[in-house]
Amino acid sequence: MNIVYVTSEAVPLAKTGGLADVCGTLPREVAALGHRCAVILPAFRSVYRAGLKIDTTDISFAIPMSPGKLVGGRLLRCLLPDSNVVVWLIDQPQYFDRESLYGDELGDYRDNAERFTFFCRAALAALSRIEMDVDVLHCNDWQSGLIPALLQASPKAFGTLGKAATLMTIHNMAYQGQFHRDAFGWTGLDWKHFTHESFEYYGQLNFLKTGIVSADHVTTVSPRYAMEICTPQHGCGLDGVLASKGGRVTGITNGIDETVWNPATDVHLSANYDANNWPSGKVANKRSLQLEFGLEESADVPMIGLVGRLAEQKGWDLILPVIRQHVQEGRPTQWMILGSGDKQIEAELTALAAQAPQQVAAHIGFHDALAHRIEAGADLFVMPSHYEPCGLNQLYSLRYGTIPIVTATGGLADTVVDTTSETLSNETATGFQLREVSPRGLDEAIGRALKLRYHDQKIWNNLVQRAMDADWSWRKSAYQYVELYDNAVSLKRGKPL
Ligand code: ADP
Ligand code: GLC
Repeated sequence: MNIVYVTSEAVPLAKTGGLADVCGTLPREVAALGHRCAVILPAFRSVYRAGLKIDTTDISFAIPMSPGKLVGGRLLRCLLPDSNVVVWLIDQPQYFDRESLYGDELGDYRDNAERFTFFCRAALAALSRIEMDVDVLHCNDWQSGLIPALLQASPKAFGTLGKAATLMTIHNMAYQGQFHRDAFGWTGLDWKHFTHESFEYYGQLNFLKTGIVSADHVTTVSPRYAMEICTPQHGCGLDGVLASKGGRVTGITNGIDETVWNPATDVHLSANYDANNWPSGKVANKRSLQLEFGLEESADVPMIGLVGRLAEQKGWDLILPVIRQHVQEGRPTQWMILGSGDKQIEAELTALAAQAPQQVAAHIGFHDALAHRIEAGADLFVMPSHYEPCGLNQLYSLRYGTIPIVTATGGLADTVVDTTSETLSNETATGFQLREVSPRGLDEAIGRALKLRYHDQKIWNNLVQRAMDADWSWRKSAYQYVELYDNAVSLKRGKPL
C-alpha cells in the first residue's frame, strides 16, 4: 500500500509534543513492514534547522484563498533519517517561516485558520501531482482535519487521490481548531458545503469535527481514550459526533522509537545502561543532573522527574501543591522539572526553584537532550494528567527504568500497571496509579513508591527490571494500523466513486 501521513509535526523536523514523535516514527515502522510511506508537513522554520538535506522539486501551486488573494507555494522534499520515507514540505514562508508552529507569547497566531486551511488545500494540490498512487491519506489532529471533507467536496479535482481511503487520528480531543464561520471562506468551497454533516459545528468552523465526520475511519491513540471520548466527560463536545461513526473509532496505543529512546544507546546520557546493569547507570545520570542544576549531590535522595507541556491537561494543579509541601516540610525528595507553556505555571516553578535550589530544579523551555537525561537520571516520573490520550513520557520512563506515577486515565491506564499485592505477586506491576485525583492522592502515590523503594529494595529492583523489559516498541501497533488501512481501502474500493 501507499500511505501518506498528513501532519503538522514530525520529529526531527517540527515538534511541540507527542504528535511529532508519532508522525516521525509510525511512517518508518509501517514502511519497514513493506509499504511505501510518505509524510506531508508545512515547511516551518524549525524544518530548516533540523540539519536534514532538503531538495527542491518542480512542483509549485497557487491557491485562491479568497477573491483576489492567490497564495503561491512550492513543494520541497527530504527523507526521514535512516529511512526511505519521503517528507514532502509545503513551503510558504509567510504562513510557515515563523519562530513557533502555532503561536507566540501573545497566544495562538491569529491566522491559524487561514494557515492550516492553506496547508490542507496545498497538500491535496501537491499530492495529486507527485508520482504516487495514494491508497491511504492518514490525517492527524485538527491541523489536517479538513482534508477528508475537501476531498469529498470535489473528488474529481484531485485525480486518483480522490479514491484514497481517509483516516483521521485524534491525538487530543481538546484541541479542535474551532474558528468563526467566516474562516470557511478560506476553503474556496461553495457555502452549500457548510453543513453539520461536514464543516459546520454550532455555527462555527471546526477542523477536527470536520475530519471526524468526513474520514472513512477514525482512530485515537489508546483503547481506553477511544472509549472515554465517546462520553460527555472526555468528548469535549464531540462525543455525539463520534457516536455517529458507529464502530469506526479504534484505539491503537502509541509506541516508542527505540532508535532514539533506548538507555543503552542514547547519545544524550552521561552513562548508558540497560536492564541488566541499570543501578550504576542511573546513578551516574542522576549525579550529572545534580551537578549541572546545583541540586544536593546524593545518590540516595529520590529524584522525581517531570517533562511536559505546562498545560492544564498535565495536572500541574496537583503537582505544584505537592512540590510546595515537600519544600515546606523539608522532605527528602528532589524535583527535576522541564517544561514550557503556561506563563503562570512557569513563574511558580521558577519561584519554587529559587526558594529551594538544592531540592527543586526547573528548566523552562524546550530541550530535547535534557528530556532524555531526566528520563534516565530520575527514580520516579510523575504524570498525573487529568486526561491523557496516550502519553509517551510514561513509556519512555518505563524504558529508562524510571517508575511512572500516573492517573488512571486514557493511555496512562492502558500502559502503567499499578503496584498492588496482586500485581506484585503475578509480576505485572510497572508503576503507581493515583487512588484519588488530588494533590493528596498524588502525594500518597509518591509515598507508596518511596516506601517500596527504601524498604524493599529487592521488590523495587524487580519492578524497575520489569518496567524496562516491557515491550512498547511500535511493531505491534504498526501491524494494527496496517490492518485498518487494508480494511479501509477494501471498503473504499467496494464503493463506486
Ligand atoms: P503531549 O503530546 O500531550 O505533550 P506526550 O507524553 O505524548 O504528551 O509527548 C510529549 C513529548 O514531548 C515527549 O517526547 C516529551 O519528551 C516531549 N516534551 C514535552 N515538553 C518538552 C520540553 N519542554 N522539552 C523537551 N521535550 C519535551
Ligand atoms: C497528544 C496527547 C498525548 C499523545 C500524543 C501522541 O499530544 O496529548 O497523550 O501521546 O498526542 O499521540
